[in-house]
Formats: sequence, structure tokens, C-alpha cells
Amino acid sequence: MTSWQTKAERPLTRDSLDAVFDNEVPVVRIKAFCTPDECRSFSAAIAKGRMQTYRLAPVGYIGMAQVEYRWGHQKSEYFEAAAQAWYDWHEVVDATWDPLARLIKVLSEACGVPVEVAEEPGFGRLFAGIIRRSSQGIGRHSDYAPFNAPDYRIGKIDAQLAWNLFLETPSSGGETTLYNRPWITEVRPGEEPPMSYGLGDDVIAGAESARYTAQRGDVILFNSRNPHEVSAGEGGERLQIGSFIGRQPTGSLVLWS
Ligand SMILES: [Fe+2]
Repeated sequence: MTSWQTKAERPLTRDSLDAVFDNEVPVVRIKAFCTPDECRSFSAAIAKGRMQTYRLAPVGYIGMAQVEYRWGHQKSEYFEAAAQAWYDWHEVVDATWDPLARLIKVLSEACGVPVEVAEEPGFGRLFAGIIRRSSQGIGRHSDYAPFNAPDYRIGKIDAQLAWNLFLETPSSGGETTLYNRPWITEVRPGEEPPMSYGLGDDVIAGAESARYTAQRGDVILFNSRNPHEVSAGEGGERLQIGSFIGRQPTGSLVLWS
């Protein structure tokens, strides 16, 4: 049983970044990461982009998530898809401004360690910076590469955050609930990664929880190994861009989606 030192949201500093990686606090918020005009400009660029929809969930996206390729795919297939994802992503970002580049600059200045997009030896850069529209909520899940991507270099990280910049938010709902119960599962060599979505109540029984509200223009960082879920929103879209941040044993940080 673990408990947070405080549930209060912290601003981004070297100390708070360590604290959220170490699951001592639930949420770090970077207020006013971008201006309202930058939100509007980015939303307008997304509206012209190639947004796709998942077959089984009412979530729109531009770019891709590595976790979609964890079962039944060769690594080479992931990297072929990543090239297309970067293409679609650049069509949006090149028409406006680059939140990923800004996040890398803000993080590296705040924490004084190298921050870069994750690379896989022999294959190249992973995709980072998925754009998502998820106004109907997202079910309970955990994101942790040592379990989701054990055969990738990102599977060697020792802690994982998610960051998201909110470009549009619903007037009610669309809240994220985090449970202080870092996901633990067994990964057997040679077997496929375990299911990380649709985690049941047994997984979070007795765990303390924290909740954050998406505010337009803010970046939220949280420890994505903790089970988390997003409630449905009403009155507007929940539109965001983000990625994971993995902490390598050396202390340097790598990004992917
Ligand atoms: Fe997640």
C-alpha cells in the first residue's frame, strides 16, 4: 500500500518531477503552457488534419500509439506505421506550432537532464505526440512500457509519466481519476504483453485516488503506471496532444506515444 505525500497539484520543478516519477505526488501541472491563441491555432490545424477513429472506441486520433502494436505485429510494422504517423502529425504541427518541441525545452530546462524522442536500436525514432479527441471518456487502464513494450528499449525505463496539453475542454466532465496502485503484472519471456485496458475494481480496491480537471492551455503530468480513467464530457470536445515520458536508469528522459 503506497500513499502520496500530498494530493495537491505541484508546479513543474526538478523536485516535483522526481516526486511524480517516484509516485510521491499524483499530478504536476504546468499552467499556461500555451496561450489561448495558440490553442485556437492548434485546434484549427487539427480540424484540417487526417483524424482517424478507433474501431472499438469513440476516440479520434492523429498519430499513433505503440501499444496498438504490442500484439501480433513485428517491430518493423510498428516503425512503418510510425513513419506515416510522423507524416500526418507534421501536416498539423507544421501549419501551427510545435507543443512537443516546447515540452522538450521546458522539461530539459526544468530538470537539467537530456530529453529526447525515444529511439529503438536498428529501427529509429518512435512516434511521440499523439493528438486525441476523447469526449466520451476513456476506460480504466495503466501505461507502463516494461509491461506494454518489454521487447523495446523503452521497456528498460524505470518510471513513466504521461503529459497532455489540453487544447479544448468540455464545460463539464472530462475529468481524469488516478488511483495510487502502481500496476504490477507478470511478463513472461516470449509471451505477448498482458492486457492493460479495462482494469477491474479488484485492481484498485482500497487505493487512494486523485482527480484532475483539464484546463485549456495547461499541461498535466502524472505517473501513468497508476490506473487511470477519464469521465465523459459534456459541452465541448476534450482535445489534447501528449506522449509518455520514460525515465531511463541513467536519469535521461525519452518520449513516445
Ligand atoms: Fe493512459
